[in-house]
Amino acid sequence: MTIGVFDSGIGGLTVLKHLVRVLPEYDMLYLGDNARAPYGDRSADRIYEFTQQAVAHLFEEGCALVILACNTASSEALRRLQQEFLPSHFPDRRILGILIPAAELIEKKYAQKNIGIIGTRATVQSNAYLREIEKRGMAQKKVTQIPCPLLVPLIEEGWQDTPPGRQILKKYLYPLKQKQVDVLVLGCTHYALIKDRVARIMGKKVAVIDTGSAAAASLKKYLSCHPEIEKTLSKNSAVRLLSTDTSERICSLVQRYWGSALPIEQITLE
Ligand code: DGL
Repeated sequence: MTIGVFDSGIGGLTVLKHLVRVLPEYDMLYLGDNARAPYGDRSADRIYEFTQQAVAHLFEEGCALVILACNTASSEALRRLQQEFLPSHFPDRRILGILIPAAELIEKKYAQKNIGIIGTRATVQSNAYLREIEKRGMAQKKVTQIPCPLLVPLIEEGWQDTPPGRQILKKYLYPLKQKQVDVLVLGCTHYALIKDRVARIMGKKVAVIDTGSAAAASLKKYLSCHPEIEKTLSKNSAVRLLSTDTSERICSLVQRYWGSALPIEQITLE
């Protein structure tokens, strides 16, 4: 069986890279719903429906567990999938999200600090990060969330280093600088691609958390605590990429984000 990785689009390759780095021997199956991305401005019901279809597809392809690399899907769909869908459809499989590893890292290292979170509109509006942080005993008033809907298209267009790109980023980050956050969570798969630029704007004193890196470390720990799942996983270092769309644009984004060509297998979700 395989480890499944789901993202609304291609940004989740930033998470897949960390997973492959930390767990190089395991086979991974990535699914990007590029035909219907971005999810970030969609309703909770729509995000749930699409994510459920994608997760079901990954399980049917033989995944023992699925990582929701997508912050938006983790925020809006994870709880319901774990509570309603999994028990009745795939009781022996698991779904893990990307938010909890970041929240755990904050609890461990930055519990008394001012926390900033940037993400899609859906991620911020869901308050899912806030819930996970509060659950760990940290004060809600110490958290500032900023939705950054322009960042995903900006990064996909490669505009982050242009004057308008820098201006937009500074505008989004300005309230977080004003609040003097000590730690900033990059709550969207794409933002890992501009981590250095964000860190430069925020200044040396601010720790910037890449959720993919936290999720990979957490998955390694999870597998060591769950030998019943770990022993079912195949270990041939194989990476497959499924997508609901294979336009030229998608292929070039894969090349850019993955660093080399990765064959894309087209699938349909319904
Ligand atoms: N992958 C999504 C996330 O991490 C961002 C892109 C989208 O809006 O679908 O939130």
